[in-house]
Amino acid sequence: MIRAFALTALAITLVQEPELGLETALETARADLEENAAWAPLGEQLFENPALSSDGKISCTSCHDRERGFADSEPTSVGVGGQRTLRNTPTLLNRVLGERFMWDGRVATLEEQVLMPIENEREMGTTVEAAVARLAADAKTAAAFQAAFGAPPSREHLARALAAFVRTLTYGDTPFDRFRRTGDISALTKEERAGMWFFESRGGCWRCHTEPNFSDEDLHNTGVGAKDGVPEPARAAITGDAADSGRFKTPTLRGLVDTAPYMHDGSLATLEDVVAFYREGGGKNSHLSPRVAPLDMTDAEAANLAAFLRALTRR
Ligand code: HEC
Ligand code: HEC
Repeated sequence: MIRAFALTALAITLVQEPELGLETALETARADLEENAAWAPLGEQLFENPALSSDGKISCTSCHDRERGFADSEPTSVGVGGQRTLRNTPTLLNRVLGERFMWDGRVATLEEQVLMPIENEREMGTTVEAAVARLAADAKTAAAFQAAFGAPPSREHLARALAAFVRTLTYGDTPFDRFRRTGDISALTKEERAGMWFFESRGGCWRCHTEPNFSDEDLHNTGVGAKDGVPEPARAAITGDAADSGRFKTPTLRGLVDTAPYMHDGSLATLEDVVAFYREGGGKNSHLSPRVAPLDMTDAEAANLAAFLRALTRR
């Protein structure tokens, strides 16, 4: 019953949003979305449920705030006991198109990822077993699991429900998407159009921020966080390969207006700061990507590029 209802709800969502601008990409994800639709409403409740944290105060929404593009406005975020996360909270928009997760790409699936914050001592600071026990002890939550999965709360079903919800957070229909879909140039201002041309040509941004989701889902060293020419370990801490030093995952650029500050360390406060960073050739270091070099651009071109980045947020 619930499954049938949720599938209908999803079908309606897909029908009502034929103009997302991401249709082809989402088409490939459709099977995933449909399989997960029945669990997403439970996942949403769990996403907002502080019973997943040791002190009963932190939920996923504490850091992934809907009003902030499912990120927050802090360089690093506050978890249990007022502790700070080590990296900036990324947006959860369009993660159904994600091929790997976390800034260093160390996690392969959403099912694996969504249990990690529960056990991270800086985020929710508990164990999955303890969280599942708290969920099972709450009659309403236990009944919701029963309805969705025909079984009481468990590690596996907790992961499936949370991941299913995250997959529903699709985001398109920005001024840029309206332009792409219809070819109607008036969807973008003159400045935004000029910024788009720069992004797609001399800026070289498109090489990594590839359409449709403005991410190639790959890892690159742009020099964010490098000090005195030495990159952060980043991906190399996972692979042990020095060539991966300073390499972080290319984030999507949709929803940027809501998700400041930027970069894995939240070090850049505004989109103008981001443009200035690339204009100067990123952060000099021993492993800088060959795709990042100083950009020959005027102040007007810099302003246009920032305007284009803003046109990737709905308005
Ligand atoms: C205290 C803040 C905090 C809380 C609470 C939190 N997160 Fe996160 N989340 C982060 C940070 C920071 C990262 C990036 C960590 C990294 O890359 O090392 C992240 C990464 C993610 C990612 C990976 C996104 C990507 O594009 O790679 C997903 C998915 C996610 N969180 C979902 C959740 C879910 C589901 C919950 C609740 C069970 C949750 N988060 C709770 C801060 C938080
Ligand atoms: C070599 C690949 C590459 C190129 C080229 C590139 N980027 Fe990035 N971009 C990344 C990576 C990787 C990150 C994350 C870096 C980090 O946090 O350490 C990023 C981060 C960003 C962010 C921050 C997003 C967020 O949510 O924090 C913005 C905005 C951005 N880039 C815009 C641009 C623009 C504009 C250009 C062209 C001038 C550009 N990028 C060129 C790979 C690239």
